[in-house]
Formats: sequence, structure tokens, C-alpha cells
Amino acid sequence: MLFLHKLSFVNTNYYKALFLDFLQQKITTREPENLYKPVRYILQLGGKRLRPILALIGAEAFGENPKKALDVALAIEVFHNFTLLHDDIMDEAPIRRGQTTVHEKWDVKTGILSGDVMLINSYQYLENYKPKIFKKLSKVFTKTATEVCEGQQYDMDFETRNDVSLDDYLKMIEYKTSVLVAASLQMGAIVANASNEKQKNIYDFGIALGMAFQLQDDYLDSFGDAATFGKQIGGDILENKKTWLYLKTLESATETDKEFLQNIFNHKSENDSVKIEKVKNLYEKYKVDRLIKEQIKLYSTKALKELKDLKINEKPKIILKDLVLSLEKRKR
Ligand code: IPE
Ligand code: IPE
Ligand code: MG
Ligand code: MG
Ligand code: MG
Repeated sequence: MLFLHKLSFVNTNYYKALFLDFLQQKITTREPENLYKPVRYILQLGGKRLRPILALIGAEAFGENPKKALDVALAIEVFHNFTLLHDDIMDEAPIRRGQTTVHEKWDVKTGILSGDVMLINSYQYLENYKPKIFKKLSKVFTKTATEVCEGQQYDMDFETRNDVSLDDYLKMIEYKTSVLVAASLQMGAIVANASNEKQKNIYDFGIALGMAFQLQDDYLDSFGDAATFGKQIGGDILENKKTWLYLKTLESATETDKEFLQNIFNHKSENDSVKIEKVKNLYEKYKVDRLIKEQIKLYSTKALKELKDLKINEKPKIILKDLVLSLEKRKR
């Protein structure tokens, strides 16, 4: 009892600190400055460090020292930050983690090449593992990275499509977001030499967690607070993103409101803040801001169920449970 009581104070702080210390050692000054300065800039902007934390926990869950998964954690965080650099170009986003995005602070050409080198370097960090482990890691990483690109392309394609279904959307976010969250846990498990079955089980948990995570991102994009969220509020609306909020509104709206909403999304707006206001009013009219919370809860509950069935150590299990519950309430 005392043991469990103590564990309830365990959270992700230790893993985050471990990772940040490692990151600090790895991002040293390199030439040419114009290539690496934006890399250091984005990596030091902060962020929740969710994926590296999951990689470290993934290793510990199967009995390995989390420090052994630091190179995996770094590979994944650098890859994630590469996707953010390019995503911000594609989404024309002005703000990331409360600061100017790389392509705005420098320019688009810089954002492309600094992103590219991050992608390449992320693979390099995996070279620090022995050949057998390296091969397994590389296989999962490559599959995942390919799926992220596919998800990202669907996200872009959907901007100009009017026939996107909620199922299409769920598949899209599974690819652009959930697979990397899930692979973080799996790659940690690989470092711990976990069996294929155990890898799959923790991966499936990660998929459910990732779905809840991206739905919450969509919610915050429209209804969050800019100061805490660190991104432009209404960015998805300005880019005509076919989010769960948008698609659910279309599902229940009157013909008039449906046409009105589709019309706003099919035409370039005269005034950004007016467009955001009009769309958010419709989202609220059909209560999708509340309905999405129920959807998030469904995925969190699914994640908790998968977690309960995982045959992993007690401490990481408690930490992961705590993480699921805190992410569905997150404001950033
Ligand atoms: C942003 O990821 C992209 C999404 C998949 C929603 P995070 O919300 O994990 O961003 P940081 O790394 O904490 O800034
Ligand atoms: C993030 O999707 C997916 C990738 C970066 C691959 P978003 O476009 O929703 O992420 P944010 O909101 O800009 O962080
Ligand atoms: Mg995007
Ligand atoms: Mg974006
Ligand atoms: Mg988003």
C-alpha cells in the first residue's frame, strides 16, 4: 500500500529532464550557421516532449534502463520537429510554441533545408544501436515516417475536397499523428528487446492515445487560448482544414448552415478574424466543441483499457495512466 502510494507521485518529469539534458549535449554549434541555427532554434523552443518521454517509458515498461533509449528519443523528437518545420510552411503558420515559425523568422528555403537535415540526422542517431536492434528500429521508423507523409498529404488534399467523411478524417489523423506517438513507445520497447507481441500491444495503446491527442489539438486550435497553446488560434479554419469540428457540424447542420459553412471554406476570406468568428459560432451552435470532448474521452477510455491489459511493469503503467488523463485536459 505504501509502495503504491509513493508511486502515485511519480510523473513524467524525470523522463523529460533526462531527455532535455541529453538534447542539450547533442545540439552543439555547427557550420554552416544558416543551416543549423534554425535547427537549434526549433529544438530549443520547448514543446511538451511527449514522444521522447514515451520512448523512454517504452523501454522501462519492459525492464530496460530508460537511458538506453535516449538515442531513440532524440531520433524521434528531431524527426517530429522536422515535421513541424515543414508543416508550418504547408499550413502557413506564423507561430509555433509561442514564437515566430522558422520560415517566417528566416524564410521558406531555410525551413525546407533545415528540416531536411533534421530528417537525415534523426536516422543517424539510430546508428548508435547494435546492428540487430538498429535494423528493427530502422524498419519501424521508416514505416512510420512514410505513414506520417501519407497522413500529411491527406490533410492537404482534404483542404480542397468537399466529400471528406469522419472516417476519412480519423484515418488521416491516425497517419499524420497517432503512428508516431505509437512508434515512440514501440521503439522504446525494441530497445528493451520486447517480443513482437508486446511491441504490438504497446503500439496499439499508443494509437488510441495519439487519436485523443490529435482531437484535442483540433479542439485547442479553435477553442484554446493563444497564450498557452502557443499556436495561432483559428489556424485550421483559415486553412480550410476538414477537422472533426467541421465535419461534425456538417453532419448535424440545417441545409442553410451547411451551405453557409461550406461556402466559407470554399472561398478565400476577406477578413481572417471575421472568418474565424463565423465558423466558431457555427461550431458552437451545433455544440461540436462539446461533442469533440466526448470523442476524445472515447479514445482516452480505449487507451486506458489497452493499458490495463498491457503486461508491463507497475511504475510505467501508473505513469502512462496519469499521462492519458492529463493529455485529455491539456491546454498546450
Ligand atoms: C504538434 O505536436 C503536432 C501534432 C501532432 C498535434 P505537439 O503538440 O506534440 O507539439 P510540441 O512538440 O509539444 O510543441
Ligand atoms: C500535425 O498536424 C501533423 C504533422 C506535423 C505531421 P497539425 O498541422 O495539426 O499540427 P500543428 O497544429 O500545426 O502543430
Ligand atoms: Mg498540418
Ligand atoms: Mg499545422
Ligand atoms: Mg493542429
